[in-house]
Amino acid sequence: MTTSDPTAQTLEQLGVKTLEAVGEKFAELRQRFDDQSSLHFSNRENWQVFLVKWTGRKSGVLSQITNNWLKMASPELKPVVGQELNKLKAHVESIIAERQRAIEAASEQSAAARDKIDLSLPGIERSFGTRHLIRQTFEELQQIFIAIGFSVVQGPEIETPYYNFEALNIPEHHPARDNMDTFYIEGVRNSHLLRTHTSPMQIRTMEKEKPPVRIVVPGKVYRRDNPDATHGYMFHQIEGLAVDTDITFCDFKGTVEYFAREFLGPKTKTRLRPSYFPFTEPSAEVDATCHVCGGKGCRVCKFSGWIELFGAGMVNPAVYGFVKYDPERLSGFAFGMGVDRLAMMKYGVTEVPLLFQNDLRFLRQFP
Ligand code: DAH
Repeated sequence: MTTSDPTAQTLEQLGVKTLEAVGEKFAELRQRFDDQSSLHFSNRENWQVFLVKWTGRKSGVLSQITNNWLKMASPELKPVVGQELNKLKAHVESIIAERQRAIEAASEQSAAARDKIDLSLPGIERSFGTRHLIRQTFEELQQIFIAIGFSVVQGPEIETPYYNFEALNIPEHHPARDNMDTFYIEGVRNSHLLRTHTSPMQIRTMEKEKPPVRIVVPGKVYRRDNPDATHGYMFHQIEGLAVDTDITFCDFKGTVEYFAREFLGPKTKTRLRPSYFPFTEPSAEVDATCHVCGGKGCRVCKFSGWIELFGAGMVNPAVYGFVKYDPERLSGFAFGMGVDRLAMMKYGVTEVPLLFQNDLRFLRQFP
């Protein structure tokens, strides 16, 4: 208590000499107590400070009155000081008890409110991830082939030149090797490379399995392209291979048509353009009527009515030689699709980088 606190001094020091003046001093204190106790105590600490200030044993106001006023009072004033002190004590204690009960009730109430489950509140939304557009497209493509009896296999991204080139009838110095701007590993040109296409899995599968073979191979492939709006140095392919004793060009064409209708819609038509791949003979580029304009010509198909789907062909008998399949008895077809291209075309994505930047604003468009 500071010295300006009247209870730190004796009544004599305060100049209180009459019974009336004693009454006034107590009235002042009571008023001060009432003012303070009616303040809103926003937290328990403030309430504790208030309690100590008035009822603390050592220097609480009530103790100080006892020590400084009552004990030091003149014999004439003493009985009145005692009575006034008792009245003030009773008042302070009853008000404090009342406030204490109110505080406890309030905290019980808020605990009850906290524990109560409000069934009308909206739930906490958890955000789920979604499959990436490329993953979705892979699954869509796989499903189309699974439905007609193909199975899905995967292979290594680090390949040997033998599987990536040679066994696919692309010998060394063949110009087709140059087209594929290959990443060689640690400059060991003849040992390992990052596969430039998924076709090596044709060889690996036929080496291991007897015909009939019907597989699709989804996966990543790598080429030393300069990344731009339509190229990255990694992209996705899905390879297909069907080999059996009686597979004809008609089966090939029928499968291509089935695929195009499943992927782009039932009205889709296809056409085959002659092409060249060392591992197929004859080879073809498969085109489909544009899924946006139906073949009339629009921006998506560059006003030709056609869009390029993938490269394909009948398996070159030379390839069978590498896997000890009998070219006299067996025949088959193969195809290789650029998955990123197909996804972009179908879903109207114009730039390759969008696929791999993982911008949520892009990804959320493909829930
Ligand atoms: N491997 C070829 C490429 O990446 C694509 C391809 C074309 C695969 C024709 C095939 C096929 O299986 O028959 O360019």
